[in-house]
Amino acid sequence: MNILESLRNRYAVKKFDPTKYLPEAKLNIIKETFNLTPTSYGLQPLKMLVLRDKELQKKLVPYSYNQQMIGDASDLLVFCAIEKIDKAYIMEYFEREKAVRGTADEVVKPFRDFLISDFGGKTQEQIHNWAVNQIYIALGNLMTVCAAEEIDACPVEGFVPSEYDRVLKLNELGLKSVLIMPIGYRAEDDIFATFNKVRKPLENSVFEL
Ligand SMILES: Cc1cc2nc3c(=O)[nH]c(=O)nc-3n(C[C@H](O)[C@H](O)[C@H](O)COP(=O)(O)O)c2cc1C
Repeated sequence: MNILESLRNRYAVKKFDPTKYLPEAKLNIIKETFNLTPTSYGLQPLKMLVLRDKELQKKLVPYSYNQQMIGDASDLLVFCAIEKIDKAYIMEYFEREKAVRGTADEVVKPFRDFLISDFGGKTQEQIHNWAVNQIYIALGNLMTVCAAEEIDACPVEGFVPSEYDRVLKLNELGLKSVLIMPIGYRAEDDIFATFNKVRKPLENSVFEL
C-alpha cells in the first residue's frame, strides 16, 4: 500500500480482536516512533506507558466511558506529560546534547540560559499545556506510522485522566495522563471498518491563494 492507501485503510477502531497481540518487532517500531517524534526545543516533555495487561486494561474501561476497546486491545498506550520541567531537567537535556554531538559548553550556554530563564517564568499550567501540545504531535505521528505498519489503533480523549493517574500511580512518577491509544488488530466484525470515511470535500479543506 502507498501512504494514501494506508491512511484510507486506517480508521478509529471500535472493536479489537482480544486474541491477537502485536509482535515485539511492531511494538519496537511504536516505541522508536514515539521517541523520534520532534518536540519543542527537543525537550521531550512526555513519556509513553505501554500497557499489556488485560486485567488492568479492563479495570480502566469504566474510567474510559466504558469504551470496550481499552480492555480488548493488544496494548494500551498512555501518553503522559512530564510535570516538572525545571533547571535540572533542562541541564540534563544539554548534557545529552554535549555528549551526543560533542558540542562545547560555551556553545550551548546562551540557549540553555535562555530556556532556564524562560521556563522559570512559566506557571505549572503553562508548562503542562505546552507538554500537551507535544503529546498531540506524538499521537499524530504514531497514528500515521500505525497506518503504514498495518497496526490498528484508536486515538482516545474520552477517559478520565485523574482516575488513570490514580490507578496507574502516574503521580508518583511525576506524570499526568493526557491521551490514550489502544492498538492491536481490528475484530473481524467491527462494522466501523466497513464505513466510508466522512471528510469535507478536499477543496473545502485546503485552499490556495
Ligand atoms: C484526539 C482524538 C480523540 C479521539 N477520541 C475518541 C474517543 O474517545 N473515542 C472514540 O471512539 N474515538 C475517538 N476519536 C476518533 C475520532 O472520532 C475519529 O478519528 C474521527 O471521527 C474520524 O474517523 P476515522 O479516524 O475513522 O477516519 C478521537 C480522535 C482524535 C484525533
